[in-house]
Amino acid sequence: LAVVALVSGSGSNLQALIDAQEQGAPFQIRAVISNEPGAFGLERARRHGLPAEILNHRDYPDRASFDAALSALIDGYDPGLVVLAGFMRILTPAFVEHYPGRMLNIHPSLLPKYQGLHTHQRALDAGEVEHGASVHFVTAELDGGPVILQARVPVLPGDDAGTLAARVLKQEHVIYPTVVRWFAEGRLRLSQDGRPVLDGGV
Ligand code: GRF
Repeated sequence: LAVVALVSGSGSNLQALIDAQEQGAPFQIRAVISNEPGAFGLERARRHGLPAEILNHRDYPDRASFDAALSALIDGYDPGLVVLAGFMRILTPAFVEHYPGRMLNIHPSLLPKYQGLHTHQRALDAGEVEHGASVHFVTAELDGGPVILQARVPVLPGDDAGTLAARVLKQEHVIYPTVVRWFAEGRLRLSQDGRPVLDGGV
C-alpha cells in the first residue's frame, strides 16, 4: 500500500510508521509533506531516504488554494492512503471529499471527548481519571470522523499536561501503525453508512 504522510511538527507518529514499515509492515511511505518548513518530521523522512516536501501554507492566499496545491502534490504520489500525523491544519471539505475512506488521523483524546486542541490540559481540568488517543477516518468534521481504534491510559495523581501527553503519545505509536497495517492488509474500510468495518477481528 502506497502511503503519503502529512506532518507539521516533531513527527513521532511518522517515526512509528517508518519503524513499522522497516520492520516489514505491508505499506510504503512514498512521501512526507509538511506545511511547516522546519518540521522535524521532514528530517525524519530525509534520514530514511523518503521524499520530504514542504508546502508552506503561508505562500497561499487562502485555505482553498493551499488545499488544492496540497491535493495535487499528494496525488502526484498516487497513494492508496493519506495519513495525517501531527498535521496541524484544518482541511476544507473539498479536500477531505477527495480522499473518501482513505485518509486517517490520530487525535490525542478519547473521541468524541475533547475534539480540538490542548486535550491533555482539558482532560486534567475536567478531573478525568482516564484519557487516551483515537485513530479515525477523516471527514469534514474536525476530529469528528468515525473512530477506528482507541488506546486508554490512566490519569495519575501528580500528572500535568506534559506527563499525561507523554503517556498518551506512547500509545499513539502503537495504535497508529496497527490501523495503517489493517488498512494495508485490506481488512479495514469505511462502510457506506460511515462506519469503520474491520474484517478478521482485532
Ligand atoms: C500528538 O499528540 C498527536 O496526537 C497530534 O499531534 C501530536 C504530535 O504528534 N496529532 P507527532 O509527534 O508530530 O506525531
